[in-house]
Amino acid sequence: MNILVLGSGGREHTFTHQIAKSPQCNALFVAPGNAGTARIATNLKISVTDFQSIKAAVLTHNIEMVVVGPEDPLVQGIYDFFKGDTQLSQVMIIGPSAAAAALEGSKERAKEFMSAHGIPTAAYASFTRETLAQGKAFLETLNPPYVLKADGLAAGKGVLILKDLDEAKTELEAMLAHAKFGAASAKVVIEEFLDGIELSVFVLTDGQNYKVLPTAKDYKRIGEGDQGLNTGGMGAISPVPFATSEFMEKIETRIVKPTVDGIKKEGLIFQGFIFIGLIKVGDDPFVIEYNVRMGDPETEVVLPRIETDLLELLEATARGKLDSVTLRVTPQSAATIMAVSGGYPQAYEKGKPIHGLDQVEQGMLFHAGTGFDAEQVVTSGGRVLAVTSLDADFRQAIKKSYQTLSKISFDKMYYRKDIGFDL
Ligand code: AMP
Ligand code: GLY
Repeated sequence: MNILVLGSGGREHTFTHQIAKSPQCNALFVAPGNAGTARIATNLKISVTDFQSIKAAVLTHNIEMVVVGPEDPLVQGIYDFFKGDTQLSQVMIIGPSAAAAALEGSKERAKEFMSAHGIPTAAYASFTRETLAQGKAFLETLNPPYVLKADGLAAGKGVLILKDLDEAKTELEAMLAHAKFGAASAKVVIEEFLDGIELSVFVLTDGQNYKVLPTAKDYKRIGEGDQGLNTGGMGAISPVPFATSEFMEKIETRIVKPTVDGIKKEGLIFQGFIFIGLIKVGDDPFVIEYNVRMGDPETEVVLPRIETDLLELLEATARGKLDSVTLRVTPQSAATIMAVSGGYPQAYEKGKPIHGLDQVEQGMLFHAGTGFDAEQVVTSGGRVLAVTSLDADFRQAIKKSYQTLSKISFDKMYYRKDIGFDL
């Protein structure tokens, strides 16, 4: 089979790495890819939302499956674009239709879906510019801290958690009346604050059947001890030690099953990954958010633990036959540590030569923001490399990743030295 992976991060390098191992994989392409994917596949200089250029590449290279990494093309309707085009309608797409992708594209839609299907989540109300005064009045009825969420996609920055009521009112006004997050904050969801510990559960569904994939926990803040600004993710581990089989059963019966049933009942087309952000409050799971794709860096720890041929799983997903495949997962733990450019998540420099790549085993070294300057591999993004290791327990795996990282360097390289500190 000829396959195209869309995206350019550590997530997509991991997908490419796992798919390349399949005996069913013939030619493998990545658009736009990075220096890591270039070693194992052919990079195509195409943006993930340039559907016409993606179409041309799919026809030129006889691509039979497109695996969509990030949310933007999904929310913009890449699934519907393919299925509505006579030349492309037979191509398998891993990712939901635009209508189903709204579970990530609109926080309000996700909350309505959860209410309709009895899925546990924080109480909420949503407001627009016209109902700003009611929004402020609603804030007065809540206890701090206050959770404000821009309805639309805001590159992971659209959630504010505020301790002070006046500040919450000011921010609500900035979002609704002054477009703090552009069009994404034309509507704002105000939520009850849930106090607990977070984890993520990943589900692969063909719209009828589903497989619960390994759990993961990511570390979002730039600083050690979970301090400082939010990032895309500075590291992750899988499985999550506190996700016992008893707790997982609650997640499956109260959340996973009702979510897949809800998708069915609403007639949504969903052949892909559901990434459920959860919070454990006491002994009970609540949904914080849905994403309609895999996470980054969660993918870098979840996929390496899956022993079943990934391409076989993906093909069964696209054909509605996920019930015919057995999911095998290694009992080993995985950890990934992200090396980032100095300054990230604020301004940082690019184009720094990366040293030491030839000193380490490349298998589980996933490139996130890398490119080439002639033959030299250089940094090209905030998150640069994700170093994954497997071992008997997560502490050993973390240690191995730090050993690998100690051999790699680039100017102003930074990584958190405390991944797993809270477990
Ligand atoms: P989201 O973009 O919806 O994942 O929210 C970003 C982060 O905000 C989450 O990972 C949580 O840490 C936090 N968060 C979101 N909603 C809530 C809530 N209702 N209660 C407590 N924390 C929340
Ligand atoms: N690591 C969080 C995400 O991919 O959304």
